Amino acid sequence: MKKIIITGAGGYIGCELVKYLSKKKYEIIAIDRYFFGEEKILKRKNIKLLKDDIRNLKIKNFKKIYAVIDLAALSNDITGEKYVRQTFDINFKARYKVAQLAKKAGVEKYILPSSCSNYGRISKNQIADEKYKLNPLTNYSKANTMAENKILKLKSKNFCPVILRQGTVYGFSNRLRLDLVVNRMTYEAFKNNRIPILKDGSQRRPTLHIIDAIRAMHMMIKIHKDKISGEIFNVGGDGNNLSINQLAKEIKSIFKKKIKIFYYGEKDLRSYFVSFKKIKSLGYKTLYKPKDGAKQLVKMYKKKKIIMSDENITLKWYDNLNYWNDKIRKAAINNKIL
Ligand SMILES: NC(=O)c1ccc[n+]([C@@H]2O[C@H](COP(=O)([O-])OP(=O)(O)OC[C@H]3O[C@@H](n4cnc5c(N)ncnc54)[C@H](O)[C@@H]3O)[C@@H](O)[C@H]2O)c1
Repeated sequence: MKKIIITGAGGYIGCELVKYLSKKKYEIIAIDRYFFGEEKILKRKNIKLLKDDIRNLKIKNFKKIYAVIDLAALSNDITGEKYVRQTFDINFKARYKVAQLAKKAGVEKYILPSSCSNYGRISKNQIADEKYKLNPLTNYSKANTMAENKILKLKSKNFCPVILRQGTVYGFSNRLRLDLVVNRMTYEAFKNNRIPILKDGSQRRPTLHIIDAIRAMHMMIKIHKDKISGEIFNVGGDGNNLSINQLAKEIKSIFKKKIKIFYYGEKDLRSYFVSFKKIKSLGYKTLYKPKDGAKQLVKMYKKKKIIMSDENITLKWYDNLNYWNDKIRKAAINNKIL
C-alpha cells in the first residue's frame, strides 16, 4: 500500500479526499490542526490522524511516504485580508517548507492545490492558460503564487512537484463550506427563496465539483511523474467557465418555486476564465456541471437538515475560535473554568 500524506485533511476538500483515497487502497496520514473537528474524518484502518500544525512538521514525518497532497491553508480571500501574517506563514512559507522536507525525505510527488484566482482579473475576451501572466489581487492569491513559484523550483529527477489550479469548488462535504459560491447560492435558494450575487455579477469565475477536484488529485498520484513533474494544470472542464450571473441562472433553474436574485457588496474585481486544454491532454475529463452539483446539494441539505452556522463560514469560525480562546485563557485557573 502506498502511503500518502494529506495536510488540511479535516477541511472541506480534505475530508472527502481522505474518504475517496482510503477506498482506493492507500494508507493515509491525515494531518491537520482540526480546527473544524476531527469527527469530520471517516474512521478506517488505513487512515491515521495526526493533529499537528504544518509549520511544525519535521523530516521524520515524511519518511517512506510516496506522495504529499498539501491542502492545509487559510482557504479564502477574506480570511487572508484579515489574518495577513498567518496567511503568508501557512499558505506560502509552511507549504514551501513541507515541499522541501518531502524532497529531502525522498517523497516522490508533491501536489499543491492552488487556485485559478491567481489570474486575478483578465480582459474580457481572453482565456488564461497556465502560461498566462498571473495578477494576484489578494493576500490569499499572492501567497498561493509565491508558493507555486518556489515549490516548482524544487523539481529534480527524483522529486515531482505539481500545481493544480482549481476553480471555486462546490459540492457536499462533511466539513461543509457555505462561503463558496455554488454551495451558498444553492443554500439560499433552497432555504430562503433567494440568490445573493456579489456585485455586479458579470465577473467570470470557473467552478469545479469537489469529486472532480479529488479525481484530478488522484490522477496526479497515479500518472507517471515524467508527464507532470514541474507542471501547472488548470483543473476543470468546458462547462465550468461561467459568469456569476450565469451561475445564478443555472442554479435558479433547478427550483420549481419563485427565486429572487439580489445584489450585494462592492464590485468584485476578480474575473477570469481559464483554459482546461492542458489537463484534458492527460485524459482528464470532469464529470459534473454546477447544475448537477446544485441538485445534489439540495438533496444533502434536506437529508442532513443543514442549517447555516458560523462553522460553515471559514472566517467566522476562525474569528470565533480566537474570541473564545481569549475568553477562556482569561477565565481559567489551572486550565479549569469551574
Ligand atoms: N475550496 C475551494 O474552492 C478551493 C479552490 C481553490 C483552491 N483551494 C485550496 O484547497 C485547499 C483546501 O481548501 P478547503 O476548501 O478544503 O479549505 P478548508 O478551510 O476547509 O480546509 C483547510 C484545512 O487546513 C487546516 N489548517 C489550516 N491551517 C493549518 C495549519 N497551520 N496546520 C495544519 N492544518 C491547518 C484547517 O484546519 C482545515 O481543516 C486550500 O489550500 C485552498 O486554498 C480551495
